[in-house]
Amino acid sequence: MCGITCYKGQRTDAAQIVLRGLKTLEYRGYDSWGIVVKKGKTIAIDKHTGKIGDATTTLPSATIGMGHTRWATHGGVTVKNAHPHLDCTKTLAVLHNGIIENFAPLKEKLQQKGHTFRSETDTEVASHLIEDNLKTMGFASSVRKAFNEFSGLNAIIVLNASSQELVASKNGSPLIVGVGKDEFFIASDASAILPYTNKLLFLKDNEMVIVGDKLQLIDLITGTKLTPNYETVDWKVEEANLGKHAHYMIKEIYDQPKVIRNITQNYEGQIKILAESIRAARGTFFIAAGTAYYAALAGAYLFSKIAHRHVNAAVASEFNYLEDFLTRKSLIIALSQSGETIDVIEPLQRAKKKGSSIVAITNSLGSSIYRLADHKLLLGAGPEKAVASTKAYIAKLAILLLLAYELDGGIKKITDQMLHAAREIEKMVSPKNLRALQRLAKTLATKEHIYTLGRGVSLSSALEAALKIKEVSYIHTEGLAGGELKHGTIALISKGTPCIVFLPNDETYDAMISNATEIKARGGIIIGISFKNNPIFNEWIKVEDLGAATLLTQIVPAQMLGYFLALEKGYDPDKPRNLAKSVTVK
Ligand code: G6P
Repeated sequence: MCGITCYKGQRTDAAQIVLRGLKTLEYRGYDSWGIVVKKGKTIAIDKHTGKIGDATTTLPSATIGMGHTRWATHGGVTVKNAHPHLDCTKTLAVLHNGIIENFAPLKEKLQQKGHTFRSETDTEVASHLIEDNLKTMGFASSVRKAFNEFSGLNAIIVLNASSQELVASKNGSPLIVGVGKDEFFIASDASAILPYTNKLLFLKDNEMVIVGDKLQLIDLITGTKLTPNYETVDWKVEEANLGKHAHYMIKEIYDQPKVIRNITQNYEGQIKILAESIRAARGTFFIAAGTAYYAALAGAYLFSKIAHRHVNAAVASEFNYLEDFLTRKSLIIALSQSGETIDVIEPLQRAKKKGSSIVAITNSLGSSIYRLADHKLLLGAGPEKAVASTKAYIAKLAILLLLAYELDGGIKKITDQMLHAAREIEKMVSPKNLRALQRLAKTLATKEHIYTLGRGVSLSSALEAALKIKEVSYIHTEGLAGGELKHGTIALISKGTPCIVFLPNDETYDAMISNATEIKARGGIIIGISFKNNPIFNEWIKVEDLGAATLLTQIVPAQMLGYFLALEKGYDPDKPRNLAKSVTVK
């Protein structure tokens, strides 16, 4: 959460470089943003609430600047709470990603010493604490001492207009330094740096970098100098553009056939290697968050049914409480689009300490999870810009399907069906189908609740459908296992309650029809996502029977329904309220 980017060098358009970087990092948070540049011995500041979009800045020309795009944790969404935060003298500016968990007692002490706070953020304690430390020590030592007092997972960057230095420290959130000719960049993600240089330094936890005329790397704990290990990468920033589409969410839904084809046709070698690691492991665990977790859950069902293997799928933030089972022979497969989800990173770090092997299945080359892993598999879905994940989800499902079949003797048994699924998705986004879903969205837009149900591997589709609909339309949508309905949720079904029911041509069909009938008997409206029509459906959304590959297609109508519901309700489907694409705080 929160995107940070800084520049120090010979160029005089620091503010513009920072603004361009922030536009790249906006996926990390978009409730407010701010930029500072060094102006003489003080700081010029420009802060705003709302998304950056195509904003401009009128800050003066400068050779040092830094900026931040925020996802609020402490303090509401106001200009005052937007970063950067200054000290009392307005010579220091601080950017922060994370949560300073002990900010309250620190703030109280600083206020008692006479410091005036201008915001409600935890971040501002950093500005004043460093200012206070400066009375007795140098700039870098002041930052180090302050940072070491913070509890929680944090990254901060401090600009000192007087010494013309930047100091960045991290413990948790990512920070990457780019080194060009007589110039330096620091950002939360390499994509903001790569247009200028490909010589990168990935800061590790408990490291601090001082950027003056030269760069120095310091161990935050001991204060000793470290030798920077620069990496020259050949990564290209993949550009995403909307093409003919109005939003990234629908564009990325349209990208899905291409993603499926790419994985089906090009991943066999990588799948074989990964299948070997799973065969060799004693205990395989999938961990993931959000949409990625629903892909992991699908994986657990696929592995059981197709490969006859037991794997555990855990919500990453809960894995901390299940990790007692880990040994040196355990294999943890982390699924993450961004590769930066802190809920996934933390258990991976602990698993690593226990000697377990780690596989990263991620869309982000060079991300924290990618770098942590022993084996890496890139989703190759291309940049996913909409916060609601669609094509990265499909990519994970495609990989898990291939893996399950590889463990059952080879991927050939499923590849034709997967390629067929790609063609089916192309048909599903035909104008006629889109119009039908738009009509359905119109009728659902007035509802307060929607329920989505599935059994077996389709439970993962039901849960993901509910997430997709609720996160962009803000309609309460609850996904549940068909069998669980009668254990409570059926109490909420009344005349007109819409229920989306997944009914593929598998062993769950008859039981799901019974569940749908129970809902119908209580006045509920049944929207059946199925290969064949049934008299109890009020609406039938046809999805061809493609065997196990139906998993790839049956989610698509729900993705589109979410999109159309967001439009119907006048919301931005690409940047839903309160969410961010990369969640780097707990
Ligand atoms: C956030 C995003 C979700 C995503 C989840 C996990 O909550 O809004 O769309 O599924 O994080 O993200 P990851 O990048 O680890 O897949």
